[in-house]
Amino acid sequence: MRYLVTGAAGFIGSTLSERLLSEGHEVIGLDNFDPFYPEEVKRRNIKLLKENQHFSLHEGSIVDNDFVSSFYEEKFDAIVHLAAKAGVRPSIKDPIKYQKNNVEGTQNLLELAVKTNTKDFIFASSSSVYGINPNVPWREDDFVLKPISPYAATKVAGELLGHTYSHLYGMRFIALRFFTVYGPKQRPDLAIHKFVHKILKDEPIPVFGDGSTKRDYTYIEDIINGLMGAIAYKDSRYEIINLGSGRTISLTEMIQTIEEVFGKKAIINRLPMQPGDVPQTYADINQARKLLGYNPSISFKDGISKFKDWYTSNT
Ligand SMILES: NC(=O)c1ccc[n+]([C@@H]2O[C@H](COP(=O)([O-])OP(=O)(O)OC[C@H]3O[C@@H](n4cnc5c(N)ncnc54)[C@H](O)[C@@H]3O)[C@@H](O)[C@H]2O)c1
Repeated sequence: MRYLVTGAAGFIGSTLSERLLSEGHEVIGLDNFDPFYPEEVKRRNIKLLKENQHFSLHEGSIVDNDFVSSFYEEKFDAIVHLAAKAGVRPSIKDPIKYQKNNVEGTQNLLELAVKTNTKDFIFASSSSVYGINPNVPWREDDFVLKPISPYAATKVAGELLGHTYSHLYGMRFIALRFFTVYGPKQRPDLAIHKFVHKILKDEPIPVFGDGSTKRDYTYIEDIINGLMGAIAYKDSRYEIINLGSGRTISLTEMIQTIEEVFGKKAIINRLPMQPGDVPQTYADINQARKLLGYNPSISFKDGISKFKDWYTSNT
């Protein structure tokens, strides 16, 4: 099969591309090496991929119509749209760029699906669409029209556009709501990676709030299994599916696990909660289990150990 993967040089995109290639597929990757985090990190993510003759990388922006329309004559078995400006707090500083990349960019990709007659479209949505809904675990049919950051609002918009295109053009649109993904190659701006980096350099780590905020951390391999399940899924036209671990870890527990696995104490710089932050994320994953055969299996401590193995041999 031939798959278009946007954001192919990113954390999740490069890991998914590796998996698709290992299963004998062809991957056409798009990425503009957005400066959100250093280009060299992304170049490293795809170093091995570029040696594979079934992988090609096209550098350009999904916001650039000339770039996207240059693929109109191609044929894809599915489009896996992962490219986005990620991150909640930075989206508050630069909401217009988030809107362009994540909303206009997504619509350009949906147009590409129409033009190339691609029948399967997988979209990277986010747990942030649930905002501060206190009723956990969050289910896909919970009300999500009250996002609390520009980033979250762009992800809701992507899901809505997907519904429109699915309805009008009969394509299958699957939105996967990822819950804080971690593991080898994790984005350097995300808390686990950032904390490890600082702890090992004896620098204080910024801890927002009293440590009681909770996250449903999901190991990258579980996310990739969910993505593979979504690519294979053919039973209905439009689905929104949570991909989480189905359990929560408090910020304090997260730091303790890092300390234990890395054998080093953290120096804590306690700061107030930040605008846009949510007190908890917690996925109900029954839909993913039922529709995708999803079965997250890696404990948080094992996941951190695997991150350590990767971190120590890659930094
Ligand atoms: N990592 C998580 O915890 C998480 C959680 C929820 C949702 N998501 C979503 O999953 C997707 C992948 O996330 P990630 O953690 O791998 O992020 P990432 O930043 O590592 O990867 C995204 C990639 O998209 C590329 N990109 C950004 N704008 C682009 C544009 N205009 N044109 C072409 N390429 C562009 C970037 O250069 C980057 O390589 C994103 O859509 C993100 O919003 C991630």
